[in-house]
Amino acid sequence: MILVTGATGQLGDALSRRLAGQGAAFIALARPQFDFRKPETITSAFAAAAPSLVINAAAYTAVDKAETDQEAARAGNHTGPLALAQLCAAASTPFIHVSTDYVFDGTKGAPYLESDPTCPTGVYGATKRDGEEAILATSARAIILRTAWVYSAHGKNFARTMLAAGRRAPELRVVADQRGTPTAAADLADAILAIAARLAATGWRPEYRGIFHATSQGETTWHGFASAIFTEAARHGYQPPPVHPIATADWPTPTRRPPDSRLDCGKLAEIFGVTLPEWRQTLPSIVTALLAQEG
Ligand SMILES: NC(=O)c1ccc[n+]([C@@H]2O[C@H](COP(=O)([O-])OP(=O)(O)OC[C@H]3O[C@@H](n4cnc5c(N)ncnc54)[C@H](OP(=O)(O)O)[C@@H]3O)[C@@H](O)[C@H]2O)c1
Repeated sequence: MILVTGATGQLGDALSRRLAGQGAAFIALARPQFDFRKPETITSAFAAAAPSLVINAAAYTAVDKAETDQEAARAGNHTGPLALAQLCAAASTPFIHVSTDYVFDGTKGAPYLESDPTCPTGVYGATKRDGEEAILATSARAIILRTAWVYSAHGKNFARTMLAAGRRAPELRVVADQRGTPTAAADLADAILAIAARLAATGWRPEYRGIFHATSQGETTWHGFASAIFTEAARHGYQPPPVHPIATADWPTPTRRPPDSRLDCGKLAEIFGVTLPEWRQTLPSIVTALLAQEG
């Protein structure tokens, strides 16, 4: 039995769809049944599922709000995942946890390696980093996947926001000096399930434990991502507004974003034989689905 947490989120939804498609035995939990702020729900969910694998897709993901909602961010990203890791450790259950490129400050000037020192710029990144460290301080069979710029046809994300904004505004201004890699939730779900299949095939191996970078291939800026979304949407008759590149300084946010959070995903390929597709490859299907939802 695979236990998936955060079932209502982008990744949790993608995992649930894939697992259902495979006919796998799984249980996908959301709040209030599973809530990191209510530790008794973590314990009871784990006991009821008696899982052979836990995939934690639950997290506090509101980057700016985290600055003023620190207790919730810490429960969702640090103390809650730690409690789940402790249960996994006691039961020798493999634990796949998801973290973020925002553990870095983005000043390296090259794709980050797993061994690079972390330096989060805000509460969200700090709580995610603390979660990573706390999980790895347990004896859990933990695989931590750092991903980035997650989007999907389900839930709140940049692609949905751009398409909605493009309907309303005569022109848009989008930050063009932050580099990263858009990663479709479905592609990350596929990567996670490929890791799960590897675990099932080989049994646990010591080299599986630790942090792995797991984004799509390629890179862009938020402006490049927006432009690609609109180019794709235009194929469906959507009339995009002009999208002007702006600097981060012209779009102040409560949390400073890393200017370059590209992640080197070589270790994931080396240890698990898993490589996510080029980010542009999955974009058309997601834009198509988002536009279809507009009715
Ligand atoms: N989104 C991104 O751009 C991005 C980038 C880098 C890394 N990541 C990481 O990727 C993972 C998946 O992100 P996502 O985009 O799928 O997130 P998401 O769409 O925001 O979904 C988050 C999920 O976590 C649940 N959740 C929030 N607080 C919780 C709590 N206290 N207890 C239990 N569940 C809680 C949410 O439930 P409700 O529906 O009830 O709120 C939702 O199901 C996360 O670890 C995130 O940090 C995301």
